[in-house]
Amino acid sequence: MNPCNVAWMKQREIRDYRISLRGIQATMLILLLAAVPVWAGSSIAPKLDIGKGGQCVDDPKFMRKNHMKMIVHQRDETMRQGIRGGKFSLAGCVDCHASKKDNSVLGSNEHFCQGCHEFAAVKIDCFECHSSKRKVIAEVSK
Ligand code: HEC
Ligand code: HEC
Ligand code: HEC
Repeated sequence: MNPCNVAWMKQREIRDYRISLRGIQATMLILLLAAVPVWAGSSIAPKLDIGKGGQCVDDPKFMRKNHMKMIVHQRDETMRQGIRGGKFSLAGCVDCHASKKDNSVLGSNEHFCQGCHEFAAVKIDCFECHSSKRKVIAEVSK
């Protein structure tokens, strides 16, 4: 082989190497994106009327994933461990999260509970018995 050819071979190897590196990078990016929860990209998250504001009973990210475990009353946490009426009371959630416009967590796909559940295709029957409305006490004047 003449020296010219050797140099050419080297270059080709380098190029092949670069191409495979790019492949690995692309694969990693895809894996990374797949690991991100669906609504982490705010562009596709539902637009929700958060309600009154203040501070949630727990970290909002945690709540997003775990709220159902805290409030469903067939679960031990609610009934046996005395969470009833405590900080995880459903009336408490509603009090904060009801829209300031109509004091409700239901009504449209911007209303807090309904909006996200519609987005996530979840059906709950809680509000057949529990009030979906904030108890309005001296709130009217605001
Ligand atoms: C004192 C008011 C308050 C109470 C009580 C409260 N929250 Fe929240 N919650 C908030 C606020 C404010 C946010 C939004 C925080 C943010 O986005 O920075 C929030 C966020 C959330 C989120 C995440 C929303 C999202 O877009 O990801 C969920 C789910 C949630 N709350 C459910 C509940 C449930 C269920 C209860 C009752 C057990 C409850 N909250 C009680 C104020 C409250
Ligand atoms: C068939 C009627 C009915 C349905 C449907 C229902 N509940 Fe209840 N819930 C009750 C009754 C009755 C109590 C007891 C109230 C009491 O003793 O304080 C209760 C108590 C609770 C409590 C504790 C008290 C409070 O004010 O927070 C929570 C939390 C709760 N329910 C959440 C839910 C959730 C979440 C759903 C939907 C998955 C739901 N419930 C569906 C009837 C119902
Ligand atoms: C940010 C989105 C979001 C918001 C806001 C939200 N939820 Fe949920 N909720 C979900 C998702 C997603 C599920 C289904 C989770 C699953 O299947 O594991 C769910 C499930 C539930 C369940 C259990 C249903 C079942 O059949 O197991 C209950 C009860 C519930 N949500 C109550 C509420 C209440 C009450 C509110 C308003 C105070 C609320 N959620 C607000 C996303 C949300």
